[in-house]
Amino acid sequence: MGHMKVTVLVENTVGVPLGLLSEWGLSMLLDFGDERILFDTGEQGSVIPNAQALGLDLKQVDRVVLSHGHYDHTGGLLKLLQHRGKVPVYAHPDLFASHYGRGFNGQGEQYLGVPFRLERLESAGAQFHWHSDPVELRPGLWLSGEIPRHTAYERIDDRLIAFRDGEAAQDNIIDDFSLFYVTDTGLVVVLGCAHSGLVNIVEHAKRLTGEKRVRAVIGGTHLGPANPEQQEKTIDYLRALDLACLAPNHCTGLGMLTRLAAEFPRQFTWATAGNVLEF
Ligand SMILES: [Fe+2]
Ligand SMILES: [Fe+2]
Repeated sequence: MGHMKVTVLVENTVGVPLGLLSEWGLSMLLDFGDERILFDTGEQGSVIPNAQALGLDLKQVDRVVLSHGHYDHTGGLLKLLQHRGKVPVYAHPDLFASHYGRGFNGQGEQYLGVPFRLERLESAGAQFHWHSDPVELRPGLWLSGEIPRHTAYERIDDRLIAFRDGEAAQDNIIDDFSLFYVTDTGLVVVLGCAHSGLVNIVEHAKRLTGEKRVRAVIGGTHLGPANPEQQEKTIDYLRALDLACLAPNHCTGLGMLTRLAAEFPRQFTWATAGNVLEF
């Protein structure tokens, strides 16, 4: 199987002294040599100047994959389209579903969904491909499809809500996607926010691809806001995976990042803006 180079373009923090901007958000460029796939677009559009500062040309992005509809993963999409022009965009059909939050910093209800209308994005060049089932995007690279939720201890952040018939309910974020890359030495699991639960996602990756060895887990784990039971059980699960690389970022949060760095001293890798990971 080929080679995948992951460059973190946008993240909550900046890791290299090259004039990059940080955002509360995530965007990573996956370069396969013959194809470049942009996974998420960050919050505000820093994806464009950050790529430039890193010597990367986003006009050469061949496809965009959106992990879910939250604004911190989709907010840079319009600027990306204005820069890139027509490009295929892969997402779940519920990308634009009701995504709200409540109680962040004592605030009331806030809209957290895609900050653009579908028509606006399409007129700027987005060619949406809607999937709810898994798709092999290229040999060895899988778009997860909807993640089956089996674990009892992985719960969606209860500050994330949706409105159905005017009533607030837990947002189950059915549009939560990850990417799975099969390599000769095992799976690389690329998370957006892991709202479905890291363990559910990795178990789905193993079932879907038939590859039982997990080489790397990278991206947003959402472990920071998780309850202590979920945090401990997920750390136990990660320990049993025998990973070569653990590169959490974004909604993992600084507290859990330092904890994971201490628990996995050999595997832990920073994945802040500007960092590059090769598989
Ligand atoms: Fe996020
Ligand atoms: Fe999210």
